[in-house]
Amino acid sequence: MFRLIYVSTANDGLTETDLSDILTEATATNSRHGITGVLLFNGLNFLQMLEGVQRDVLDVFNRIVRDPRHTSVVTVLQEAAEARVFPDWSMQLKTRPSTANPDFASGADFSDVMNRAMPDHLSRVFGNFDTLKG
Ligand SMILES: Cc1cc2nc3c(=O)[nH]c(=O)nc-3n(C[C@H](O)[C@H](O)[C@H](O)COP(=O)(O)O)c2cc1C
Repeated sequence: MFRLIYVSTANDGLTETDLSDILTEATATNSRHGITGVLLFNGLNFLQMLEGVQRDVLDVFNRIVRDPRHTSVVTVLQEAAEARVFPDWSMQLKTRPSTANPDFASGADFSDVMNRAMPDHLSRVFGNFDTLKG
């Protein structure tokens, strides 16, 4: 099993419809390839964690990197993993209101993710992202 986390910046014109399109595509492709994970959006930046067979995760990631709906994709972590943190989520989108766009990412917060049992080094990555204002 393989795990990858990246952070990126949403493009200026990103709409709520783009977000739901991304989620629809992600859920369909990921379930076909046995990929699970989570996508956080704070109104400005994305953080996504992908878990699955290494070749499949890297294939999907290579498509994600080229996606014009975001830029400046930076890999934060790549590692071999014993167990999945979100085995039940083929891709779960969690959004939070941002300072700049209070209504855009109108989800509540990232507590579903933050409260999930996971290794410390992953909690720190999610915890850092959770402190960004968006
Ligand atoms: C922030 C973000 C996250 C995405 N996450 C996934 C994902 O988890 N799985 C996936 O298949 N596509 C995801 N996509 C969509 C892909 O970038 C791409 O549009 C989709 O895989 C179709 O690729 P194709 O047009 O090359 O077939 C994401 C896109 C963005 C902008």
